[in-house]
Amino acid sequence: MKNIAVFASGSGSNFQAIVDASESGSLEAKVSLLVCDRPGAKAIERAEKHGIPTFAFSPKEYPDKEAFETEILNKLEEAEVEFIALAGYMRLIGPMLLSRFEGKMVNIHPSLLPAFPGKDAIGQALEAGVPETGVTVHFVDNGMDTGPIVEQATVQVDENDTVEILQQKIHKIEHELYPKVIQDVLHTPTEKGEFV
Ligand code: GRF
Repeated sequence: MKNIAVFASGSGSNFQAIVDASESGSLEAKVSLLVCDRPGAKAIERAEKHGIPTFAFSPKEYPDKEAFETEILNKLEEAEVEFIALAGYMRLIGPMLLSRFEGKMVNIHPSLLPAFPGKDAIGQALEAGVPETGVTVHFVDNGMDTGPIVEQATVQVDENDTVEILQQKIHKIEHELYPKVIQDVLHTPTEKGEFV
């Protein structure tokens, strides 16, 4: 069974969905590490409940991104992690981690990319008055929500939707979609007959 790590900064509801899928067996992978850049985040509490090791750190205690990513890389290696799922990790990945995990790292973003990249994608969609928005899972590259798209799902925007309502609808779709896409990416052979 492959070891995966999840990176989160906040509530960690997607982290929870991934852990639940792993425990139920629908995701054939073991969540071996949570990486969290906000020491008080709810995601950490969730990890503790499931006995999942956490590396929680404050970026401001390091001189730069390379320094904390070096430490993250050490933790990933210790836990023999082969694949990373970013789930609400509010930070661009630097060359230190990318060079080691390129093609082995996905992110989930709450819009139909390339529409509404970056922060507050749900607010941006409401502001733009689009009739539908959605969720994108994509491989991670060095840009902001720019890597190759793996899967998308649409969510209808209703007239009376607030940010909170739309966020709830999006979260529901994310929690179904993300574990399934991770399962597919990990278990579908590539053209070369290898797995990710
Ligand atoms: C999700 O909406 C995800 O698409 C975005 O950040 C949010 C994280 O939510 N990247 P949670 O922490 O998983 O609840």
